[in-house]
Formats: sequence, C-alpha cells, structure tokens
Amino acid sequence: MATISLRHIEKIYPNEDGGKKAKKLGLEVDARGVLAVQDFNLEIADKEFIVFVGPSGCGKSTTLRMIAGLEEITDGELYIDNELMNDVEPKDRDIAMVFQSYALYPHMSVRENMAFPLKMSKLSKEEINEKVLEAAEILNITEFLDRKPKALSGGQKQRVAIGRAIVRNPKALLMDEPLSNLDAKLRNQMRSEIIKLREKIQTTFIYVTHDQTEAMTLGDRIVVMKLGLIQQIGTPQELYRNPINLFVAGFIGTPQMNFEKGELIKEGQKYFVLVHGAKIELSEEKANNLLKQGVENRSIIVGMRPQHVRIAKEGEPYFTGRIDISEMMGSETYLHLNVDGSDIVSVITETKENRDFGFEKGKELKLTCDGALINIFNPDTERNLEFENK
Ligand SMILES: Nc1ncnc2c1ncn2[C@@H]1O[C@H](COP(=O)(O)OP(=O)(O)OP(=O)(O)O)[C@@H](O)[C@H]1O
Ligand SMILES: [Mg+2]
Repeated sequence: MATISLRHIEKIYPNEDGGKKAKKLGLEVDARGVLAVQDFNLEIADKEFIVFVGPSGCGKSTTLRMIAGLEEITDGELYIDNELMNDVEPKDRDIAMVFQSYALYPHMSVRENMAFPLKMSKLSKEEINEKVLEAAEILNITEFLDRKPKALSGGQKQRVAIGRAIVRNPKALLMDEPLSNLDAKLRNQMRSEIIKLREKIQTTFIYVTHDQTEAMTLGDRIVVMKLGLIQQIGTPQELYRNPINLFVAGFIGTPQMNFEKGELIKEGQKYFVLVHGAKIELSEEKANNLLKQGVENRSIIVGMRPQHVRIAKEGEPYFTGRIDISEMMGSETYLHLNVDGSDIVSVITETKENRDFGFEKGKELKLTCDGALINIFNPDTERNLEFENK
C-alpha cells in the first residue's frame, strides 16, 4: 500500500553516437544526451492500478525502473508515501518488480525461488514457509512448489515470478510486460488472474504494456506515452471517449479509429461535421465544449470508430461506401469500405435483422455515425478541438 508521486521526472541517457539513433527514432536530443523520459508528472493513489502504455521505445520501462530504483533519476522527484526516494537504494524502497523474462533461479525449486526474498529477513523458517504457502495459494501454484522452473509452462513460471514478488507484501508491485512471452490464449487467462490477484492483495500496481487491450482491461487509469512524453492520463473510458490527440485516438481501440478529412460548420449554437457529403450534427455536449473553446468554421480531421460507423436509417445524413473486403469475425463483420477513394472500416454486429443481409464485395451501403460519437481534431496541432487549449 502506497501512494507514489512522480514530479517532473526526466531521464537523459548519454548519447554515444551523437544521438543519431535516438534522433532517427524521433526522440529529442540535446547537449546533455537523449531525452528518454521528459517532464513525467503523475500522482498515483494508494492501491490504484496504473498502466503505462505506448509503442516501443516510448520510455515505459525506463520510467518503471526509475520508480524501482534500478535506473538513476536524471531530474525531478520521486516520492513514495510522501518520502523522497531519488537516492534510496532499490532494496530499501519496499517495491517488488516482475519482468517479462520471469528471471527465476533455475537451480532452485519453486518453493526456494519464492522464499528467496525472505531469506534476508529476520523471519523464522515457519514464518517464511507460511508466507510462501499463502502466496502459492493465491496464485494456484501449490502443487508445483517442489518443481524446478524448467518443469513449468510459461504461465506457471510467470505465476512463480509474481509469487516471489508478493511474498514480502511490498508497498507496490511493478510489472514490466509480464505476459508478453505467453501465447494469446494464456495471456487472456493470465490477464484475468491479475485482476483476481489485485482483489486479493492490497497493493499499488504499476503495469507496463504495449498492448492497448491489456491496458484497457487492467488499468484504473492509463498513462499513454509516446517518445518519452505523456500524451494523456485517464480512465479507460476517458481515453476511449475523449482522446486528447490523434495519437491517443489511433492507439486506443481496435480496429483503429477512422480518420477522414472534413469541415466543421457552426450555425448559431450548433455545430455540424461535413464528412464525405454527410452533414452530421454534433451532440449538445460536444457543441458546448467547442463553444467554450471558441471554435469557428474550419477544416478538421473527423475521427469515427469502426464500431460507430453504421448503416444509416431513412432520413439520416449519410455517405456512401462500397464494400471492398468483408471479414467475418463470428458475431461481428469487419467491412472495409471505399468512400470517395478513402478506406473506412465499419464493424457490423450481427442482429436478427441484418444477419441475412449479405455483405458481399461491391455492394453499396449508406453509412453514418452519431454526432455524439464523433471526435474532431485540428489537422495542424493534431489535438482534439473540444479540449485543444486545456
Ligand atoms: N542504457 C541506455 N542507454 C541509452 N539509451 C537507452 C538506454 N536504455 C534505454 N534507452 C533508450 O531510451 C528509450 C526508452 O526506452 P525504454 O526501454 O524505456 O522503452 P519502452 O517504452 O520500455 O520500450 P519497449 O516497449 O520496447 O520495451 C529508447 O529509445 C531506448 O533506446
Ligand atoms: Mg520496455
């Protein structure tokens, strides 16, 4: 149990090749070196489950390792339970970390692996045994306690690694892509195990992943990062509904949000989006946000999630799309539609009305999207126009 505060945290790595590689990746480089993490600010509440998500190289592991004390903090302050931690040794931070590679000791049994972090403590053999058993039960690995790691599956190994991390009742549990070595099915299963674990042990979690689905299902709040910079912090719902910029909009949600060129039209207190000939009125909530920001008529990028692009009812504004590809996914069909030469994806959920419709290639559909579900972006700044100046 702990609160964790990161205030203006920065990580600068010395640039060995004059920063060539880093610059190529798009990272900022200055006289001091490569800016791998910049001005990272986050207040983590006690027992909160925080997820860091973003593409490879965005600084997720570096930030996590700075919290654990495995990486020096170049600038800024790290507080755990209101105590400054910058110069505190990793072992004195009372934090446990789980890695993608499990990092188990191969010559030790599961029991010995899990007992290892307690060896240095003043606990008696019985007390250690009790704690190991307790953790093993939480993780369902009691029956493997006398096995060596090599006789375990990937999922079982990762459970042991988690067990070893939680025997000490750490203040916080840090996990760096713990599931990415597992196959898709096992990953889903372990994801629910982590949700259960979270209910059983009362601790603060920080979880790193590049998988947005994992982030959305696990996090109380998600920190989306790109090139060392926080893009947005929010609940899964906030990120999904109100992405702050094109990057977050494209990163969160699958299939990816459709981005189309369009125009914003203001009429009195109302706003309309003109996209591929359809004039769609935005919801009152969106109009109010835009009014507050003082947004006038302008060119925009229209963001529509595939789940929200649907067949228009009689009388609704629509654009016409011709089916290029139709992917049957079971209860859903992913349609790739050609709309004035651009590719728009629509996810159609099967209903008893549409199940015999037949979404064959070449068919033309009248499509629309509700004005409450459209996101609009400034093409120059790539920011969401509803929140642009926030
Ligand atoms: N020891 C180091 N020296 C120099 N640069 C480093 C060092 N460690 C990491 N970097 C750079 O810092 C940036 C952030 O790396 P980091 O490992 O935190 O990314 P990540 O978000 O965890 O990515 P991934 O998803 O690939 O694990 C990367 O561009 C990386 O090349
Ligand atoms: Mg990493």
